[in-house]
Amino acid sequence: MNEQLESLFNESINLELSVAELYSLFGELFSEDVQFWNRLSFEERNHACLIQSGRDSFWPVSRFPVEMLGTSLDEVVKANEAVQAAFTRFRDESLSREDAFNVAYQVESSAGEVHYQMFMEKKVETKIEEVFQRLNNDDKCHADRILRYMEECGIELRQVAI
Ligand SMILES: [Fe+2]
Repeated sequence: MNEQLESLFNESINLELSVAELYSLFGELFSEDVQFWNRLSFEERNHACLIQSGRDSFWPVSRFPVEMLGTSLDEVVKANEAVQAAFTRFRDESLSREDAFNVAYQVESSAGEVHYQMFMEKKVETKIEEVFQRLNNDDKCHADRILRYMEECGIELRQVAI
């Protein structure tokens, strides 16, 4: 595997784990939504596992569907930095429950996360794609689920600077 692709795999796995940690923190900070955040955090950890085991099992034969990952290493690195910065801010400052939902929505729309989601929701073209979608099961549509939950709670969608 070339170095660039290896870094993209590693950074994509790191991104999933960072998002999982951010959602766990949200669960700790906002107890009324703890089930929602813990569920998403668990699913993000599964995403990391799926990318990791997929790379280990399918890459040697070049069949890993790389479109699951972000297209640019740089963008995935930036997305990961933004998630980690958000984690630090939520840990150290008193940001609101509304901020948490809006930041999560922004995270789900950023590089890496959005590519993963698009892959899991697309119409499969190969057996391997089907295998990955099956393994991912229902751990998808995070952006939509966050939006729906926000609507139910009457939380407005807005841009939050991280
Ligand atoms: Fe994810």
